[in-house]
Amino acid sequence: MSDEKKRIAWLSQEIRSADALYYQDDNPALSDADYDALRKELLALEAAHPHLIRKDSPTQSVGVKPSGKFGKIKHTVPMLSLDNAFSDEDVSDFVARVQRFLSLPATAPLAFTAEPKIDGLSAALRYENGKLVSGATRGDGQVGEDVTANLSTLDTVPKQLSGLGWPEVLEIRGEVYINHADFDTMNAAQLKAGKSEYKNPRNAAAGSLRQIDPSVTASRPLKFFAYTWGEVSAPFAKTQMEAVAKMAEWGFSVNPQMRRHDGPEEMVAHYTEILTARAGLGYDIDGVVYKVDALALQARLGFVSRAPRWAIAHKFPAEKAITTIEAIDIQVGRTGSLTPVARLTPITVGGVVVSNATLHNADEIARLGVKLGDSVEIQRAGDVIPQVLRVVEASAGAPFKFPSTCPVCDAPVSAEVDEKTGKQDVVRRCTNGLSCPAQAVQSLVHFVSRQVFDIDGLGERQVEAFFEKGLIKEPADIFTLRARNDEIKLETWEGFGETSAAKLFDAIDARRDIPFDRVLYGLGIRHVGRTNSRLIAQHFISWNKFRAAVSDLQNPVSDAYMGLLGIDGMGQAALGALAGFFASDSNVEIVDKLTAQLTIQDAEAPTSDSAVAGKTVVFTGKLERFSRDEAKARAQSLGAKVSGSVSKKTDYLVAGPGAGSKLKKAEAAGVKVLTEDEWLALIA
Ligand code: IVH
Repeated sequence: MSDEKKRIAWLSQEIRSADALYYQDDNPALSDADYDALRKELLALEAAHPHLIRKDSPTQSVGVKPSGKFGKIKHTVPMLSLDNAFSDEDVSDFVARVQRFLSLPATAPLAFTAEPKIDGLSAALRYENGKLVSGATRGDGQVGEDVTANLSTLDTVPKQLSGLGWPEVLEIRGEVYINHADFDTMNAAQLKAGKSEYKNPRNAAAGSLRQIDPSVTASRPLKFFAYTWGEVSAPFAKTQMEAVAKMAEWGFSVNPQMRRHDGPEEMVAHYTEILTARAGLGYDIDGVVYKVDALALQARLGFVSRAPRWAIAHKFPAEKAITTIEAIDIQVGRTGSLTPVARLTPITVGGVVVSNATLHNADEIARLGVKLGDSVEIQRAGDVIPQVLRVVEASAGAPFKFPSTCPVCDAPVSAEVDEKTGKQDVVRRCTNGLSCPAQAVQSLVHFVSRQVFDIDGLGERQVEAFFEKGLIKEPADIFTLRARNDEIKLETWEGFGETSAAKLFDAIDARRDIPFDRVLYGLGIRHVGRTNSRLIAQHFISWNKFRAAVSDLQNPVSDAYMGLLGIDGMGQAALGALAGFFASDSNVEIVDKLTAQLTIQDAEAPTSDSAVAGKTVVFTGKLERFSRDEAKARAQSLGAKVSGSVSKKTDYLVAGPGAGSKLKKAEAAGVKVLTEDEWLALIA
């Protein structure tokens, strides 16, 4: 070996072990200056002898050191998911919805692209002046993990863009996946090394990408397909087709099965073609994604909460199998719902071993007529929990009796009654609230989970242990653990030493400063999930304003209530649940105890620099340039509130031809009336 080669190998090794000590063990062995000197020497040697650059060289990770716990990267443009279509009819409905939203006649040309939906994990690659500067996982769609070093080890991720014409800032998004053949080889190697096999290529891809040591990722057969983009400093195409062609020119792998179509018949025909080709593609796909081809139309269509209006995933049919019901267990969820779960004789369905299936609720058990020992047909579709479809052969056993008391705390079980319809809900719930250990523990597990407070080192197992010892009964208790450690002595517990106890307390403290929406989501109120929590936070901006308004929520004609109801996407169910939650003194106490421990960050208003931000607008009459939905969505995206009726609070009435009583009322109330064109000029 040449001296240079030896020196490069030695430097690489020194830097990697320094990285490991620094990032994984929080125990740096070198001073910053010594570390930098090593990197500098390595870079100089590599520059002088490019043929000696090792694939796993620490310099090949675009200057970003591998991160033990992964830093966070905020997505400047959220990474959304897709709505699903399951039938040809769903696809026609999607096309019709797009036409309606755009006010296009059914005969107007409207092109869509169709391409396979890759079953991997999505990633975002940011390029500045053609150079890869960072790479992130999707995370919760708003914030992902910084896996730059790992992503840059993929051959299909260009470190430098080729070709011409890329925008200065360009964020390419796509899917990281593993081929079937590579997956088999990888699993054979796992077995040989005495390690357990990966369940499927997607899990293998996720596991390989989230390695602390990028050289492990480098040794894994990960690939990347580019299919969309996030932040860009300048538009670079007019259509989806053109954009993807550009990506290919710049050095990305793009899917060869992508094509352009003029309507639902062609789209569905292509879907069938891809479904037929599926087994021979060599990688997992779970459907076909359709996208409106014209980017100008995509921009007009925009998004609804978590998915674009301009795209849909047409999912492949579920895979089925026949097996036997060995037991029916009842699980109690965080909202007290009792869910029957069928324990099955394990069976492989679509490459995955299935041993549990949901039976949903008592009505479903009755409808299916299932009981112990029955042979049943089950199905599994994508990530969805497997379901029982029908009884194939009934056993001689007695019918299943749904419990009338909670299997965890023995409290009576009841069903909610819908106020509007008077109908009883099919879901039975434990009536014991947070006094039921299952609900308390599950609520706490939700509270600390990744999408909520995301407390490192505090997972289901730890929460259960703390709960059993009576140390954490409600969220606020988490934040007083450190102060109580003189009694608790966490460092003496099995599985905890001085270091891990200190780490846990630090991880908890790191979450005292937290966004408004996460706190609200963390409360686990029914129907107030991630999206609604964000909407509510954006509406109130500060926690204090929200907290001051909640008592008003008991009054359905209060400003607080009406204001929330006016938010696009918020429904009666969520509002009712929110009001119901805060009607309970013990809940209010739990919340106030928690928030006393926190510094809650204000939410950002959707857009505040537009002329209509914060204004209330009513649309009436026939709109000629846009559909009512599009006009409403546009106004909301600019921060305006759209209301259905004129009141003193209305700032603008946008009146098209045929406007009647609302126009009269607005004129009488002195509300500013605009034509559609005047409105467009205002928001331009
Ligand atoms: S487009 C705004 N195209 O599917 C969302 N997504 O279920 C744009 N996916 O999060 C996504 N193949 O990870 C798009 N050809 C494809 C895809 C694809 C797989 C994933 C993606 C997305 C998920 C939604």
